[in-house]
Amino acid sequence: MTSRTRTLARSAAVLLALTALAALTACTSGTAATKDTSVAASSTTLRAAAGKFGLKVGVAVNTDRLDDPAYAQLTGDEFSTVTPENAMKWGLVEPTEGTYDWTAADKLVAFAQAHGQLVRGHNLVWYQQLPTWLTDAAPKMSAAQLSAILKAHITAEVTHFKGEIWQWDVVNEAFDDNGELRNDIWLEKLGPGYIADAFRWAHEADPAAKLFLNDYGIEDAGIKASAEYAFVQDLKSQGVPIDGVGFETHLDATYAAPDLETQLAKFAGLGLDVAVTEADVRDQLPVSKADVATQSDIFAQTMQACVDVPQCISYTVWDLDDKDSWIPQTFSGEGAATLYDDSLKPKPQFTAVQKVLVKAEKSAPQRSK
Ligand code: G3I
Repeated sequence: MTSRTRTLARSAAVLLALTALAALTACTSGTAATKDTSVAASSTTLRAAAGKFGLKVGVAVNTDRLDDPAYAQLTGDEFSTVTPENAMKWGLVEPTEGTYDWTAADKLVAFAQAHGQLVRGHNLVWYQQLPTWLTDAAPKMSAAQLSAILKAHITAEVTHFKGEIWQWDVVNEAFDDNGELRNDIWLEKLGPGYIADAFRWAHEADPAAKLFLNDYGIEDAGIKASAEYAFVQDLKSQGVPIDGVGFETHLDATYAAPDLETQLAKFAGLGLDVAVTEADVRDQLPVSKADVATQSDIFAQTMQACVDVPQCISYTVWDLDDKDSWIPQTFSGEGAATLYDDSLKPKPQFTAVQKVLVKAEKSAPQRSK
């Protein structure tokens, strides 16, 4: 190659890179238009390390904050899957009966596609964040009316996102802490069969999406985990199209880490995928250095549990940073539950999780595609 052709080739390469950058910027316009220089991806990103053995690492996203370039940059660089923290919940997508507003959810799906990420859809049936038109009218409805409304909602939402969602949390937090099915409007009016129906309707609308039952408090053996296991076993034996169980994994550093690996493996033994769907580790504020070490250790243990179970296909943290975390509003005096601090700097908890993934790169069981 002459020096002139070398220069031409170099110019062409630069042009190609600039074009790709422009295309990416165009794709993400309306999300993050510019890169932020105050935050940087880690030297080994979580998504790259986990990707070596096919594990996806995810984050719950506040879609409003995607307009903050620093927030968008970390979300895109470090994670390979995203979950809308609120944007796909019923009350937000259908505030008025029959009128859907997909704006925020579509924005997240576009962001994910522009960043080569998969999406966990969250959620289709829950007892919280329901629209008031529904909660006001439900007590007076017949079972047939409520069932028709539930089917219409699931069908509309899953159809809207058909082909774009990797995993759907079809039914969220269906069990109470005492191991009974939660006595919410769904159970009260429709009986326990609403859960199997929800899975069947979601499957009809998008047969390729992986359908999950998602819950908290099943990370350790106990009355709730046993009840949920028996219930899922029954769904499987009836041929209900359930693909996985999500372990929310909202933990408190005051208590010892749960034996998550045993529970993940137990549910995976039913022929299902499993996933850590909402990991965070809270503590009393302000946190001491020793508290941070404990939180880091608990985060590392939960990531290790997922790494060690080949059917654990994704590990998602609930909220990117402490500023956005749901914890302080819900648990008075507690917080510091995420991997990043208020100014988006990675905390020791981040490094602890990263270390587990880097160590696992060569030895972890490969996830099937
Ligand atoms: O949208 C309204 C806004 O209009 C209003 O001005 C503002 C005033 O407080 O409230 C906004 O709604 C809030 C909503 O988040 C969106 O920000 C609700 O008050 C608030 O309760 C809601 O909290 C969400 C919570 O689910 C609802 O239960 C949290 O952000 C979200 O992190 C949390 O996520 C759940 C998972 O979906 C299921 N598992 C547990 C997890 C933590 O609770």
